[in-house]
Amino acid sequence: MQTQKRAIITGASSGIGLELARELALRGWALALLARRTELLDDAVRAIGANAVAIPCDVTDSGAVHDAVKHGESRLGGAFDLAVANAGVGIPSHAAKFNLAEAEQTIRVNVLGMMYLFDAVIPGMIERRSGRFVGVASVAGLRGLPTAAPYSASKAAMQAFLEASRIELVPYGVGVTIVNPGFIVTAMTEKNRFKMPFLMKADKAARVIADGIEGGRRVVEFPRRMSLVMRTVRLLPDSLYERMTGPYSRRKAGPSKVKP
Ligand SMILES: NC(=O)c1ccc[n+]([C@@H]2O[C@H](COP(=O)([O-])OP(=O)(O)OC[C@H]3O[C@@H](n4cnc5c(N)ncnc54)[C@H](OP(=O)(O)O)[C@@H]3O)[C@@H](O)[C@H]2O)c1
Repeated sequence: MQTQKRAIITGASSGIGLELARELALRGWALALLARRTELLDDAVRAIGANAVAIPCDVTDSGAVHDAVKHGESRLGGAFDLAVANAGVGIPSHAAKFNLAEAEQTIRVNVLGMMYLFDAVIPGMIERRSGRFVGVASVAGLRGLPTAAPYSASKAAMQAFLEASRIELVPYGVGVTIVNPGFIVTAMTEKNRFKMPFLMKADKAARVIADGIEGGRRVVEFPRRMSLVMRTVRLLPDSLYERMTGPYSRRKAGPSKVKP
């Protein structure tokens, strides 16, 4: 009999993380679900009904992430075959009203939170010569997006870190997957007041991500049309990119903290 594979997912209390947990459970994975909101995690474990455990954890606390990994492994009866760094925050921003505390929180959760999980699981995966680390970044990391500078920077940092790590981990039999979603219907995008192109439901996104993970893909970028747009925008000269996005950024500026 084949043993059940084990996955740990951060940010599993809502949105993409929760849907990915549901999808992986359907595909037979045993799951450790991490996030701060305990009641939502407990609801998720009850709803999934499979082999899943809720582990409350703030991913900005390195010690807590290490403890959560150990705790999850002992509750599920073995080491993780898959770790998904999905927890993230996205706070609208503008350079003329720069909020350092919000920028710091964005980097702490999105970038350091991912690295803490990486630090906790990768040595074991290297030793076992197997496993996969997945980071949920964003197409927002493909170019500096006005009104989302810290978020965009955090996702670009994730992409660069994961790409370099993937190459370094090849000889150890450990896989790395970068997930770059476009706009997905979750609490994070609920506040957006603009029309989001190619908006996708979270359950569908979870199926695309699960297929990519199980298929051992290097990069999972979707919806396809959003990926195409962003890959094209990446090739545009800076001056043209600035002309295209400038009016949008000025509309969002509002009163500046500093006099021009
Ligand atoms: N929605 C989109 O359009 C979209 C597009 C591209 C990429 N993404 C990325 O997808 C990931 C999931 O976002 P989502 O859209 O599903 O939004 P969401 O529903 O707001 O989910 C965010 C998750 O992150 C967790 N989280 C936030 N801060 C945390 C912390 N300090 N410690 C532990 N967990 C924390 C939240 O749980 P608690 O609050 O319970 O801790 C929640 O489970 C993020 O990395 C996001 O950047 C989303």
